[in-house]
Order: sequence, then structure tokens, then C-alpha cells
Amino acid sequence: METSDNISVCFFDSGIGGLSLLYECVRKLPRVNFTYFADNFNMPYGRLSHSELIAITDGIFSEIAKLNPSAAVVACNTVTAQCIEFLRSKYPFEIIGIQPAIKPAAAIGGNCLVLATPSTVHSQSLKQLSEKYGRGHTNLVACPDLAAYVEKNINNLSKEGVERLLPEFKADSVVLGCTHYVFVKNIIKNYYGCPVFDGIEGTAAHLCGKLGISDHRNSRGQKISFKGGDYAKNREIFNLILRQSGISSQN
Ligand code: DGL
Repeated sequence: METSDNISVCFFDSGIGGLSLLYECVRKLPRVNFTYFADNFNMPYGRLSHSELIAITDGIFSEIAKLNPSAAVVACNTVTAQCIEFLRSKYPFEIIGIQPAIKPAAAIGGNCLVLATPSTVHSQSLKQLSEKYGRGHTNLVACPDLAAYVEKNINNLSKEGVERLLPEFKADSVVLGCTHYVFVKNIIKNYYGCPVFDGIEGTAAHLCGKLGISDHRNSRGQKISFKGGDYAKNREIFNLILRQSGISSQN
């Protein structure tokens, strides 16, 4: 088995959304070092145009490139949908994106509701994914204000606050097409009363595969850093996720 001691991976999301994916990767790869980049003060990205997203993410990736990472994870569906081809064509390291988990959701049959930001819903890449795996019953619906609600109210999320931002829909499965929505997965599940899917587990497994390691040994001084945006908030929320899962905090 290859060792992961010298591997470093950079993460990027507009805000706190990617922290749940970071958590899953930290758990799966306890000897890889991670740096989480965010841009909390400019979010929501879901309302930005393609060219605005390209300009912003290019700026952040030029900072990521200075760290010479083994790989970068775009922990943002919006940036994956709008910018991943551009980023891959420009930067020399492996870049992994997160996409809505339409395939397993559509496989259970019936009406599949995909919730995402406006920018993701209007992207070509989501349309293609839906045509490929959606079995003709996939509905792509934008939730324009949900990511910003989660970002702003992360310490005070309420059922009423989330439900008023969700579309009415008779769904047999729901796909969370934005990493911020993962924080309110249970509220969404209760509201629609059906199975809810996200791309967290699949993307984390994809990263392990790309790095060529499956390293489940205990952590030996793993380093997790936070840069850009409101890095102190991102670190605090990540430590909360670690504590809730029984893992001790990182400094
Ligand atoms: N968390 C991001 C996503 O997965 C974007 C949220 C936003 O900034 O609008 O799409």
C-alpha cells in the first residue's frame, strides 16, 4: 500500500458547504494534509455568471497552485458545473469536482428532484448528467436563497427557515446539488418524506482512488489549515463537525 505521509490536498468552496466533504476525506485519509480555501464574503456563488465564476475561481486557484498540491477538490457543485473544465485545462495538478448524485437517486424510480443553485441548474454539465442518468424523470429546480441561508445561520438553522426556501414538489427521491444543503439534509428529508442523496461519499471515494491510497490507519500529526474568506469561522464549524463525530478538534 502506498503511504500518504507527503500528500497534500487543497479544498475549495465558496463558504462552509465543503466542510462536510472535507470531514469525509479527513476521516478516510488520516495521514493526508488538507488546506481548505473559502470565499465566504463573496458567496453565494450560485447567483454569479459563468464569467464571474471563472474570474473568481481562477484567482483562488492561482493561490492554491502556489502550495503545489497533490490534488485539489472543488467542494462546490456550482464551481464544478461552471468552471472545472477551465481549471483542469489551466492547472497542472489533479482536480476533482463534486456533482449531484443523480445516478443512485434516479435508480430508485419515480420522480427525482434535484435541488441546486441557479447557476448549477442552468449549467450544461447538469443537463448532461441528468440526460445520462436521470431516466427521464429528473427535475432540476433552483433554490436561489438556501445556500446563503445556511451560510448565515449555521449556528441557528431552523426547520421553518429552511422549509420556506424549498420548492413544493411530490418527490420519490431528492438529490442535494449544493454542498451547503448537506447541513440541512435531515430537514429536507423530513419535508419531502423520501430518500435524500448527496455526492459526499462518492466524491471522497473518488479522491482516494485518484490519490491511489486507501489509508485507514490512525492520524499521525495530520495538518488541516484554513485559508481565505472567513477562515476562523470555517475552522470553528469544522471543529464542531469533528466534535459531533467524536474526533478531537484541530487547531
Ligand atoms: N456550496 C456551493 C455549491 O455546492 C455554492 C453555494 C453558493 O455559494 O451559492 O454549489
